[in-house]
Amino acid sequence: MSQRSCLSVILAAGEGTRMKSATPKVLHAIAGLPMVAHVVKAAETAGATGLALVIGHGADEMRKAAQKFAPKAETFVQEKRLGTAHAVLAAREAISKGYDDILVMFGDTPLIDSGALAAARRKLAEGTAVAVIGFRPPSPTGYGRLIEKGGKLVAIREEKDCSDEEKMIGFCNAGMMAVAGKHALRLLEKVDNKNAKGEFYLTDIIEIAGAEGLDVVATEAGFENALGINNRAELAEAEAIWQARRRREAMLSGVTLIAPETVYFSHDTEIGADTIVEPNVWFGPGVRIASGARIHAFSHIEGATIASNCDVGPFARLRPGADLRNKAKVGNFCEVKQATIEEGAKVNHLTYIGDARVGAGANIGAGTITCNYDGYSKFFTDIGEGAFVGSNSSLVAPVSIGKGGYIASGSVITESVPDDALAFGRARQKTIPGKGKELRERFASAAAARKKAAAE
Ligand code: UD1
Ligand code: CA
Repeated sequence: MSQRSCLSVILAAGEGTRMKSATPKVLHAIAGLPMVAHVVKAAETAGATGLALVIGHGADEMRKAAQKFAPKAETFVQEKRLGTAHAVLAAREAISKGYDDILVMFGDTPLIDSGALAAARRKLAEGTAVAVIGFRPPSPTGYGRLIEKGGKLVAIREEKDCSDEEKMIGFCNAGMMAVAGKHALRLLEKVDNKNAKGEFYLTDIIEIAGAEGLDVVATEAGFENALGINNRAELAEAEAIWQARRRREAMLSGVTLIAPETVYFSHDTEIGADTIVEPNVWFGPGVRIASGARIHAFSHIEGATIASNCDVGPFARLRPGADLRNKAKVGNFCEVKQATIEEGAKVNHLTYIGDARVGAGANIGAGTITCNYDGYSKFFTDIGEGAFVGSNSSLVAPVSIGKGGYIASGSVITESVPDDALAFGRARQKTIPGKGKELRERFASAAAARKKAAAE
């Protein structure tokens, strides 16, 4: 099958009014990725070599988004929404390039599994002209019914055109199908709009192919594959299913999730075996974690790379560009952005490290802040290997602290510190013996005098 060329035609011209959104429906995200991009991924995994995106509503926004998630896709505008067959024909130019297989998919069906698509393509490889992906929903209302005779699919009847008897059929059209490229255009052009909705139905090619004596079959896929998103409640439902799948996959690949239902993954999260993720952790896009790390509860992590055996959180925030090397530690209430925390370095409590390097084995005391921004530009802080930064220090960038440098607590460091130097950036302490007691006595008698005066 891998030798067969395949064009995926993804229909996404619909308006999606029920989303009540200024954003086109199929650009709403699941796991941080537009739902139509999930569809593209499934098509590619099933071996699609070409991609045609049929757009209409919000065409400019769609084109712009497509450049990111499917840079190789060709886009075709369907000016008027006259039905699914009409929509596929909008991509006529791509179809006529002569692919072996055409996979028709919907942009609003993000949980489609590439295995179901591949199964339909296998039928084409065996000589079938059209292979429809069917499923059995809990309630078939609203779906096209698959009408079979002797193991062959003879028609798909849309709900509105069904007889009462046909409405009893539970086997339904998921919407997606694989069509042999050599027949596709001819079959599509024979479709008319003489039906209850007055639309050009893609599903009519089943009867048309049958009348030509071609072989037509239905394959069966799980319900989730066909879950179409029309509103934000369904979007959340799809998100939940996606997350459940991903958590299970992570656990089966050796990641411990103590309370899986509280951990949120992005579409591209990578986690190595023997990493432990505690409850209530959020992974935004672009996170890569190696093996043996521990992510403590309530951490918020995006765009970060975490090497083996790191320790993160609880309540850590790792922002894009955070790069933790082996055994680095970022503890509670710390924020790290665009910064490398080198091997074994510790940033344990209440700290902001941004636009910086923290050298191997360095120790950053509680409350340390890299002052990286002057309101206009960002500046870099370089902290050398083995340096010690005392608690509550402000490092005003650009500034560097040499290898083994030692910063006194409470310092404001504005000038670079050489290797192995000790730097104080605060007033020296002055201690006056007996002065504490004297002050206390003075304040107490003043307070007593005031109280007496008020009572008179
Ligand atoms: C379609 C199927 C139905 C199936 C159901 C599964 C047809 C005729 N019917 O019905 O058998 O059970 O999906 O969910 O195919 N679109 C366009 N341009 C158009 C029309 C549609 O781009 O002119 C796109 C829509 O944006 C959507 C997809 O095609 O992504 C499906 O269209 P929709 O109108 O939702 O079809 P259904 O009535 O749900
Ligand atoms: Ca639909």
